[in-house]
Amino acid sequence: MAGAARWRGLETLGYAGDREDLGVRSEMTPYYERNGITIYHGDCRDVLPQISQMDLVLTDPPYGIDGGKGGSRGRGKVNYIANEWEDSPEYIAKICVPIIEYAIANAGRCIVTPGLKHMHLYPVPADVGCFWTPASTGFGAWGHTTLNPSFYYGRDPRAGKGQTPNGRQMTEQAEVDGHPCPKPLIPWKWLLIKGTAELTDIIVDPFMGSGTTLRAAKDLGHCAIGIDIEERYCEIAAKRLAQEVLL
Ligand SMILES: C[S@@+](CC[C@H](N)C(=O)[O-])C[C@H]1O[C@@H](n2cnc3c(N)ncnc32)[C@H](O)[C@@H]1O
Repeated sequence: MAGAARWRGLETLGYAGDREDLGVRSEMTPYYERNGITIYHGDCRDVLPQISQMDLVLTDPPYGIDGGKGGSRGRGKVNYIANEWEDSPEYIAKICVPIIEYAIANAGRCIVTPGLKHMHLYPVPADVGCFWTPASTGFGAWGHTTLNPSFYYGRDPRAGKGQTPNGRQMTEQAEVDGHPCPKPLIPWKWLLIKGTAELTDIIVDPFMGSGTTLRAAKDLGHCAIGIDIEERYCEIAAKRLAQEVLL
């Protein structure tokens, strides 16, 4: 990216500068901002157009499977009760899909985990990979669900330079952090590495949840911006980011 050079060395300096340098126009007030990691509490339809540079959009939008009514997910997880939005197929079609279309048009690359049930609503990706979970993640019309698809948009940063597989087995479980469906950190770091070419790449997650993308970015030394419409999830993400780097 044209402006990438000015990012070099940012984390060693400690970020304390103008938000313009983070690819964000200065009128927005962050919920959290430290060492190149920024969280915005708000609707990504309002916030995303304010971000002027995004090299990789890595995101896990709502799956539209709970109707926002909640439901116990086991393992001590909290119920999924959507306060500010609807976890419905209509919401996916009207809100999430246009955001992903915007991300595809404006970011260098985009990786989306659309879930199985409504993945057909999203634009046709350049490639499809997956996290394969042999022990199953749920139950579908034909038995236990073992597949969590990843849609890849744009060009593989390693195309022609020794590409890596587009999927992997996933046996790791997400930490119980208060969000109803956090992603496990290790596979998420794997996806982030898959989608980035340079340490200077800016990562953006418009459906941040408890901040797994931001935590992965911090651990790997990237600058990143996350957005969530629910303040309680911004708070969880900010707490996760306050911890020191996990290697
Ligand atoms: C599947 S969860 C993401 C979970 C995340 N990957 C994690 O590891 O915690 C989707 C998130 O999108 C958020 N969301 C839904 N509509 C939104 C919108 N219009 N703008 C910003 N966030 C939104 C929800 O609050 C929810 O936390």
